[in-house]
Amino acid sequence: MASSDSKVVVLGTGGTIAGSAATAADSIGYRAASLGVEALVAAVPALAEQPLECLQVAQLDSKDMDFAVWQALAAAVAQQLQRPAVAGVVITHGTDTLEETAYFLHRVLAPPKPVVLTAAMRPATALLADGPQNLLDAVTLARAAAWRGVQAVLGGRVYAAADLRKRHGWHLEAFGAGDAGVLGLIQDGRVQRFRELRAAGPHPAAAALPADAAQWPIVDIVVSHAGARAESIDALLAAGVQGLVIAGTGNGSVHRALLQAAQRALAAGVPVLRASRCLDGGVVEGAGGALPDALPGCGALTPWQARIELMLDLLVRRAP
Ligand code: SIN
Repeated sequence: MASSDSKVVVLGTGGTIAGSAATAADSIGYRAASLGVEALVAAVPALAEQPLECLQVAQLDSKDMDFAVWQALAAAVAQQLQRPAVAGVVITHGTDTLEETAYFLHRVLAPPKPVVLTAAMRPATALLADGPQNLLDAVTLARAAAWRGVQAVLGGRVYAAADLRKRHGWHLEAFGAGDAGVLGLIQDGRVQRFRELRAAGPHPAAAALPADAAQWPIVDIVVSHAGARAESIDALLAAGVQGLVIAGTGNGSVHRALLQAAQRALAAGVPVLRASRCLDGGVVEGAGGALPDALPGCGALTPWQARIELMLDLLVRRAP
């Protein structure tokens, strides 16, 4: 455990946790990213006596998350973690792209202290808002040195960044951890851990993230489905896409129309990864069939994680 006088820094980025609605009964028709991070902390009496600092890094509905915010967030987290007085960092975020930001930070920071993302399905003005408890739990975890690395805390469950998935569009219990299962539980300030995380260093591209987010590689996701059209890939190639992830059916299988267009992408030097559009399971290689070696599966990664991975890989390939 970090000492009780070490600080936790809470970085605000918006989301429903910072949302407000006209009435307390409204958990759907609210405006996300309305309240500042200081107000979120002030709404949790149990945090009043704790050494905390708040910083507003962004204020957005996370559906609009972009590389510039990721860049600013990664830099802010790295800077705060370097301070000896800081035990860990909490990030308040929207639920919609929580798993993408968590995975991105996991891959570029591999932090030596806890970095804990949290969010809420109900706005701060709701009768039974979930944000305050989630925030309190996240701060508790951020003080626990043994939880180094990036994780998310929601509804008393701790998720490893690599396993986090949003599974439901509006239900209070909206998150899952796929086949890996949750990392632990947190109840009344007591944390229970089920398994250790494999230690992994940051992606080699982490040191070379362009400061100008417009310079980050363009990687798009195409979904394979009944009646899929080659034109969806061809149009992206014409628009200058630099990498593609195909969210395939089942175990990463790809509609033959997309397969032909994917071959054109490969011939043009644009790498293509296969993921699965199924929520759990990822892609297991070696099932045989007609897929070319140049169209590798992305293992357990979700399409959104595979996209981040390919983006980082492209940065390494681009390095002089
Ligand atoms: C968002 O992702 O910012 C809005 C939705 C949410 O936080 O639940």
